[in-house]
Amino acid sequence: MTTVRKRRLKIKKKNFTIFLICIFLIICSIYYGITLITKSIHKKDTLTPYPKTDNMYLNEYNKMEKEIKFYKKENAERYSSYQKLNPNKSLKEIVLEVNIGLDNPYYENSKKAINLNKETILVNKYNYLDEDYVPDNLENISSKYALANKQMVKKAKEAFEQMASDAKKESLSIIAMSAYRSYDYQVNLYNNYAKTDGKEKADTYSGRPGYSEHQTGLAVDVYNGKTKYTEFHNTKEFTWMQNNGYKYGFILRFPKDKTKETGYEYESWHYRYVGVDIATYIHNNNLCYEEYYAEFLDN
Ligand code: DAL
Ligand code: ZN
Repeated sequence: MTTVRKRRLKIKKKNFTIFLICIFLIICSIYYGITLITKSIHKKDTLTPYPKTDNMYLNEYNKMEKEIKFYKKENAERYSSYQKLNPNKSLKEIVLEVNIGLDNPYYENSKKAINLNKETILVNKYNYLDEDYVPDNLENISSKYALANKQMVKKAKEAFEQMASDAKKESLSIIAMSAYRSYDYQVNLYNNYAKTDGKEKADTYSGRPGYSEHQTGLAVDVYNGKTKYTEFHNTKEFTWMQNNGYKYGFILRFPKDKTKETGYEYESWHYRYVGVDIATYIHNNNLCYEEYYAEFLDN
């Protein structure tokens, strides 16, 4: 072999080795790149404590968690879904409404009521009482301010009598026509309404058995002894109740502008004892009990 040929062969070998090294480096780079990407995706997944479906909302909710005291981490997925359906609502509204339960149809996902025998109890279409629940300390309301045998729990009864007595001093007549109702009583009442008006209509004005707060002994329906109770809003007694009820611990439970939150049509005659402090706050801030409860009591 000539020296020239030998040299050429050597160069060829050298080039081939360089080529192999290059291929090896390219394969290594691709492998390393893929590993990095996989790792970063995995890292994102495990660090995200919220549902992965709606990451676009997460930053907002992270902020909300600090700003909205009643934000609940366990509801994060529900907030996202509800917000998608209600894009024009503020985040505070979203959180509040989901906490009330409004992202579910009424009666769906309902829970057993807590705070039994306390004036903070919440009974509505998402919070129910057992069939055998009878509140402690039921007492008859004085016949001066009630139809025969109407009962409320002691504290509410005393507040009601004081309120009716003070109204009487202004020549106004506030009379309890329905107060504590047992589960069985509500079964008959609701079934009769459903028979007459159909279930769907009945649900707009009557609690299903276990879901009526009349069973707590803290609710009372009033009239003035003359005008039909469904016309109570047209009486002087109603105006007086609007201006004074809260001072005795009573709130209008189903206001005209809160039918969605409460789940019931406006009832100008139905009042609920919640204590003076809570009633005053609700009065001053134009809230219904569901809103107050979701913001301050539901933890
Ligand atoms: N009328 C109210 C909603 C009740 O039945 O409890
Ligand atoms: Zn009522």
